Parts: sequence; structure tokens; C-alpha cells
Amino acid sequence: MTEQLIIFDTTLRDGEQSPGASMTREEKVRIAKQLERMRVNIIEAGFPAASQGDFDAVKAVANVIQDSTVCALARALEKDIVRAGEAIQGAHAGRIHTFIATSPIHMEKKLRMTPAQVLEHAVKAVKWARQYTDDVEFSPEDAGRSDPDFLCRVLEAVIDAGAATLNIPDTVGYNLPEQFGALIHTLRERVPNADKAVFSVHCHNDLGLAVANSLSAVLNGARQVECTINGLGERAGNAALEEIVMTVRTRQDIFTCDSGIDTTQIVPASRLVSGVTGFAVQPNKAIVGANAFAHESGIHQDGVLKSRETYEIMRAEDVGWSANKMVLGKHSGRNAFRTRLAELGIELPSEEALNSAFARFKGLADKKHEIFDEDLHALVSDEAAAHEPEHYKLVSLRVCSETGEIPHAAVVVAESGVERAAESDGGGPVDAAFKAIEALVDSGAELQLYSVNNITSGTDAQGEVTVRLAKGGRIVNGQGADTDIVIASVKAYLHGLNRLHSKLERAHPQV
Ligand code: KIV
Ligand code: ZN
Repeated sequence: MTEQLIIFDTTLRDGEQSPGASMTREEKVRIAKQLERMRVNIIEAGFPAASQGDFDAVKAVANVIQDSTVCALARALEKDIVRAGEAIQGAHAGRIHTFIATSPIHMEKKLRMTPAQVLEHAVKAVKWARQYTDDVEFSPEDAGRSDPDFLCRVLEAVIDAGAATLNIPDTVGYNLPEQFGALIHTLRERVPNADKAVFSVHCHNDLGLAVANSLSAVLNGARQVECTINGLGERAGNAALEEIVMTVRTRQDIFTCDSGIDTTQIVPASRLVSGVTGFAVQPNKAIVGANAFAHESGIHQDGVLKSRETYEIMRAEDVGWSANKMVLGKHSGRNAFRTRLAELGIELPSEEALNSAFARFKGLADKKHEIFDEDLHALVSDEAAAHEPEHYKLVSLRVCSETGEIPHAAVVVAESGVERAAESDGGGPVDAAFKAIEALVDSGAELQLYSVNNITSGTDAQGEVTVRLAKGGRIVNGQGADTDIVIASVKAYLHGLNRLHSKLERAHPQV
């Protein structure tokens, strides 16, 4: 009989630790809903002790998710565990994930603790966490570089203390597949009470081996994999959820377990995460890259036309590529619009928000006759951005771009309601528009990232632009979508400036 492979998604926690990938509470809730739709078993929503914002985001996710377990991360410290416990209080099913490092280098140099002290903290942490929930996960951080004898002692003790899941992280992505699989095998054999817990793995991708290491662990008995959409995560990232899920599913001749993931939700999830974080997906990325199912060579095309199995081991529609269907058009009414949003799991906070989103939808349908699900996601992101505090608001934009001429932009921006105008030349129309805005606002922000994604195919597709701005140690992402990519870029830039302004205001309120 096929066993269950538990999918633990940490896009909202480890994924968010990617520099520049921080997400707002609303963005986390939107992604969590998509993960739930995909039937992810556990959603790690954040690290509540890290900040009030993270606490609020975990709480918000815990309060809306019904079908997945919502997990909060905590160091093996009482204050962290209290915050984690409070954040998941409203969850239908809540888990606390507590961790402490067990490798010699981490214990000695980072924690400055002896192995005996680490073991004591680990046990205490699990017991504290059990006061909030029966579902407690323990991770010996940097397990991939820890002494297996010591790991066995720690794991035995935390199971006795009440941990139901033992997560073995290759924190620095140092292990090789055979070695990591053997570690899982050894731990399962040598920990006397190993049968009382589920073994999990959490692999980082520093050597590009996160997925291979995770799968090797699964072949050696791990039954939970921690992973992220698009492989997002600290440094080179975590194991990519889509690659784990599709490998196990495609190679059922090898694996004795399978996940219950609705794989048709994979591409929409990938697009959502990429849009929110501004981390573009490389075209040749497995499963979710734009070229993942494209056949260029004549020999391949001929083979696929005769029998698709000649060169395709998976079907594009099984991972959600066919989701790109026309769903609404110019003549669709408010009810059809509301129904489709509900089918996509998008809830707008009020009738007023629905009316305003519907007005935007009509405007978009005038410019672009076929509206796809992806357009609706972008429209709702735009709508959410429009409801964030707007210190700067775009009033008008005019750009000139002509062969042989220097691109030029003229903008009118309202700052706290007062309209001001500026003009600038630039290397291109977007550059000119950003320079004109800077001539007005003089933000001093550094533009760290500018990325454009076409939301659907065709030249009338909406462009979704993400900009990343940094100032005074604060980093924000701004997003904008429009069928005109210069307008989308300016919306994204102003959205970023507004977020930066709100953050700086909160830190140093003006008297
Ligand atoms: O990489 C790591 O070790 C982690 C732990 C918190 C599980 O992210
Ligand atoms: Zn990690």
C-alpha cells in the first residue's frame, strides 16, 4: 500500500528569509490560501518571536486556514515558544516547530553551549511547546554536520519529551545524496523509540543538491519533506516543492509513498509566489519554468506529435499549465466576476472592495478582451496595493520613446494630496519615468531589483512589475500590473515608495 508523504511548505518562513522576499500579512494569507488549495499538509507561516509583524502574519494565517496544519517556528527558548503558541491559538490545527543547533561548530561558536546543555534545552523546549499543542516538531539545526551519536541521544530524548516529528536539516547544504540518505537510515535504526515519530528532512540548496538529498532521505524512510515553492529560501534556497512532488509522483515505480498534492495548482502557486516576491522563475526551471514543456528541436517536436510520451514524462496540464484558459470577458457581469474570484479562493474584504475591483476588471476587459485567472490574481494584488496607505499617488504619466530620440517622461504625482509635476530624460521610458519621480520625491532609495513578468501570453498581456527598494536597512517590494508596462512600472515604483514611507513613518513618526 502507498504510504503518505507529508508535504511541509516553508515558503512563508524559510522562503521569506531570502533577502528581499519579505511579505506582508495580506500576501502571506493569499499564498497560504493557495497552499491550502494545493492540499499542502503543513504550512509554516513564520517565526512569531522575530517581530510583531511576523507574529501578526502567523496569527492571520492560523485564523483563516481550515484544511492544512499551520506551523510556527520557535528557537528552543521559552519566550519564543510562548509567542509561537499564542500565534497559532486560533488555528484549526496548529504545530510548533522548535529547534536548536547540534553540530560542534554551531554549539561551540554560535550557542557557546556544551552538548549536555543543548540536550537539556531541546527537551525543555519540546515540553514547553507541548503545553500549547500535541503537534510538536523538533529540529537539530545543522544535523548534516552533527555527530550521529549525539544526534541519536538528542532525538531519543525529544521523542520521550513529546515531539511527534523529527526534522533533520542539512542547514548549510553540505551533504551528498548517498550520505544524507545513509544518515536518515542510521537515525531510524539507532534511535530506540524512532517508531514513535515521523522523520522529516529540510535541505538547503548551496550545492544544488537540496531536492536530491531530500529524495534520498525519502528512499531511506523520511515521510515528511520540508520544501518551498520555486525553491525559494535562505541563500541558494530550499528543496523545490514542485520537484519533490512531481518526482515522487512520476517515479511511483521507485517510491513507496506519494503526496496528496493537487498538482494542477503548482503553476498558479509558482506564479503567485514569483509575483509577490519579485523572484522571477528561470525559463528552464523544472516543472514551473516557461520552457519546461516546450520542445524546440524538430526531432523532439516530431516525436511528441506522434506520441507525446516519446519526450514527455509528465503532462503540462497535470501541473497546471493549462490553467491559462479564458475565464471572463468584456460582457461578464458582477456575479460572474464574484463567482470566479470565490472559485479562486479570493475573498475581498467588503462590497466596496468588490465594486472597486469590478470597476478595474471592466477597465482591463476594455483593453484586453480575454481575462484569465492569472489576470484576476494580478488585479486583486493591484486592488490590495490600492488600499494600502498612499502617501504618493500617480496622477498622470506621459512618455515619449522614438527611434533616434532620447526617451523622455513627464509625471504628475500627488504627495499627501498636493499635486506636483516633473520631467526627465532617461536611458529608456521606464528609466526616464523613475528619474522624473525621483526628481519630485528625492527618496534616496536604492533600486535593487526591477523585474517584469508577462502574466499571460500575447502582446496584450498584462505586465506585472516588481521593484525592490532599499533605504536605511529597510527593504520593500512594490508591485504593479497593467497592459502598459511603463504604467505598470510606475505603479510598482510608487507602491514601493509608499511602503518604504509607511515603514520609515512607523519607525520615526513625525511629531
Ligand atoms: O535550515 C535550517 O536548519 C532551518 C531550521 C530552522 C529547520 O531552517
Ligand atoms: Zn532552513
